Amino acid sequence: MTTIDLTVDKSRRKNAIKRAKERNIIIPTYAQMKDPSKIPAKMKDELKNVGLWDVDPRNLFRITWHNEPKAKGGGFGGVNYLELPSSLTGVPARIFVLIGKWFPTGAHKVGAAFSCLVPRLVTGQFDPTTQKAVWPSTGNYCRGGAYDSAMLACESIAILPEGMSKERFEWLSKIAGETIKTPGSESNVKEIFDKCKELRASGQDLMIFNQFEEFGNYLWHYEVTGHAMEEVLRKIMRKNDHFRGMASATGSAGTIASGDYLKQAFPDSKIVASEALQCPTLLENGFGAHRIEGIGDKHVPWIHNTKNTDVVVAIDDNAVVNLSRLFNEEAGRAYLVEKGVPETLVSQLDLLGFSGISNVLSCIKAAKYYEMGENDVMVTILTDSMELYRSRLHEMHTEFGEYTETNAAADFAHYLHGQSTDNMLELRYSDRRRVHNLKYYTWVEQQGKTYDEIQAQWYQPDYWTSVQRQANEIDGLIEEFNGEVGLVK
Ligand SMILES: Cc1ncc(COP(=O)(O)O)c(C=O)c1O
Repeated sequence: MTTIDLTVDKSRRKNAIKRAKERNIIIPTYAQMKDPSKIPAKMKDELKNVGLWDVDPRNLFRITWHNEPKAKGGGFGGVNYLELPSSLTGVPARIFVLIGKWFPTGAHKVGAAFSCLVPRLVTGQFDPTTQKAVWPSTGNYCRGGAYDSAMLACESIAILPEGMSKERFEWLSKIAGETIKTPGSESNVKEIFDKCKELRASGQDLMIFNQFEEFGNYLWHYEVTGHAMEEVLRKIMRKNDHFRGMASATGSAGTIASGDYLKQAFPDSKIVASEALQCPTLLENGFGAHRIEGIGDKHVPWIHNTKNTDVVVAIDDNAVVNLSRLFNEEAGRAYLVEKGVPETLVSQLDLLGFSGISNVLSCIKAAKYYEMGENDVMVTILTDSMELYRSRLHEMHTEFGEYTETNAAADFAHYLHGQSTDNMLELRYSDRRRVHNLKYYTWVEQQGKTYDEIQAQWYQPDYWTSVQRQANEIDGLIEEFNGEVGLVK
């Protein structure tokens, strides 16, 4: 199957509609997530009394890049973004970052999870009255999934590696029905897949929403993140500016689908995929453990459109963790101000979580590789913020001691302005196919995909566009569902 299955099961759908009526649930459409001016006034009014992270079904409408950046009662405005100046990045190119912190749960993965669950819910394929939703993940996706499940009144099981940050587990213990810890850390995804297999065989009535293969994940980013990026670009680009490309670390390879959208809007733009140098799967079929939480999982996700990926970049996790100290410790921030980085920006650098820092470094490396100038524009994503890594800062403080001005000067020079074009590969046709071919070992050998399916991903011309076209059809199903629930006038 190449697209999201939208076969309707009317009798099961009745259960979902009944549940939605009982719990006062209205589901937003992709059109509303892209453009919140389309959200009914009644919903906006109700949100005035709802906190950003509250488990309140109205927060489904906050699954958008347009949330007013406040903890409670926020409305909707433009897309949340920042421009990073060359005093910080060390390159003349203009680098823009979209901010994920202002999603409920503090990470954009809540959107990817929504987009995997909702098509199943509104078609009746998933019955929230009898089934549990299972969310395999390295952290934020299962947080998003557990949160969406709670808002949509479904039971959930979150699965994530035991080595992920303490903040993720603390929060999950309050939201998810059950949390399963799998062995290992960040890149141990095979162990997560094994746990899913075990759950499937357990006879429990559940549905596994595997973000690494679910096209709902791809579609949400193509449609919602892609449009949000375009909106920022149309707003900030000056007459002679040139959009050169987007960079995104790949975890499930959902976010990078926004690059497919941008390439259709700006055909000469590039898509830069990044990963940790300590686990260089895309770069050299490599493997290993690393500290950039949320990315790089020792396999190529099924939903990664490798044929459209132009460059692969591997980022040293030492750069990321040391820069997190530079951006957040007092001595680091003072040093950045001394080096001419505007204070207003320095005070917001906690908006960059680990993978956000890695994404910015990927933009810097791409800007250097392509010799970009001051009219060249790159865009990337801050999936989450340091709110989810405070414990990591404490751990580093304990392990390495006080962060000093000397540390700050070294990290700034080495890891930020000293970024080079090493560990990068501009992909030729055969390189892209080499990355695609790696999918075989995970997906065909282990996870039940067929030979024909993997061939179709590479050779069927409309494989990816057929998914891209599904948002309108799903919106129709959501509107029909909401109509039957009957709460919006
Ligand atoms: C913090 C963080 N950054 C980046 C990613 C990667 O995003 P994607 O899975 O869309 O490739 C994830 C995914 O879970 C994440 O949690």
